[in-house]
Amino acid sequence: MSSNLIQPHPVGAALVVGGGIGGMQAALDLTGAGIKVYLTDNGPAIGGVMSQLDKTFPTNDCAMCTMAPRLVEVGRHRDIEVLTLSEVQSVRGTPGNFNVTLNRQPRYVDEKKCTGCGTCVSNCPTHNHVQPMPTPPVELEPATRETLAAIVARHKNRPGPLMPILQEVNIALNYFPESALRYVAQETGYSVADVYRIATFYSSFSVVPRGKYVINVCMGTTCYVRGSQRLMDKVSEMLAIKEDETTPDMKFTLKSVRCIGCCGLAPALTIGTETYGKLTRQDIPDIVHKCQEVA
Ligand code: FES
Repeated sequence: MSSNLIQPHPVGAALVVGGGIGGMQAALDLTGAGIKVYLTDNGPAIGGVMSQLDKTFPTNDCAMCTMAPRLVEVGRHRDIEVLTLSEVQSVRGTPGNFNVTLNRQPRYVDEKKCTGCGTCVSNCPTHNHVQPMPTPPVELEPATRETLAAIVARHKNRPGPLMPILQEVNIALNYFPESALRYVAQETGYSVADVYRIATFYSSFSVVPRGKYVINVCMGTTCYVRGSQRLMDKVSEMLAIKEDETTPDMKFTLKSVRCIGCCGLAPALTIGTETYGKLTRQDIPDIVHKCQEVA
């Protein structure tokens, strides 16, 4: 028998090129089949385009909520070796015994020691220090200033004060005027960008004025397939406003949200801290009238 007819022993490893959501899922599926995986990406981190998205079509589900569990699983999986800043140069061999050459760019940090804390950035001796622009004084009504000062004073010296401060400001003002965000940044030492990023990330926060009652109709997958669009249409019809609009009397704002964490009650909506589940169009008038009576 000719020696080139002898099949080499297959290597139990696979190379997945591209660390986006598809690449991560492929790597996890392969390890599930008992195959060691090398996951390469030419970027400095895996995650691909999805990591830059807010919502995904067609359900508008949160991209990070879809991706984060896979990112964590890939990062921790002992049979997945992630090779970032790497590009495939050549592939040689036959099925079961490929030989792949990667070109790996330098990273300039020791990956084994780096925890991603960012301290090196703030202490970088070659950092190009830019003189900050003088910030204009924050103009606030005296009563609002007093409210904000009390909130900031309560949390300022605690670890991670920004979130509790913004939660209380949100309750006190019902939205974040720009001046309030700049005041919080000024008093806590965070940058306006950091404060604004958090203020615009959570759907329970708003940087535009909104009604006393915010009706959040869940349009997550489970609620959607169980008819939450009909709930949305009914609320919209009753209050004569569209999604993201507020009634002229500033009593109601209509919003859609993605999964409020009670899919067993689908279709559901929330108003303030109240959750209403297993709803039909016929339930909407009672709910709205109840708020109108209190409002
Ligand atoms: S999809 Fe509506 S609560 Fe989960």
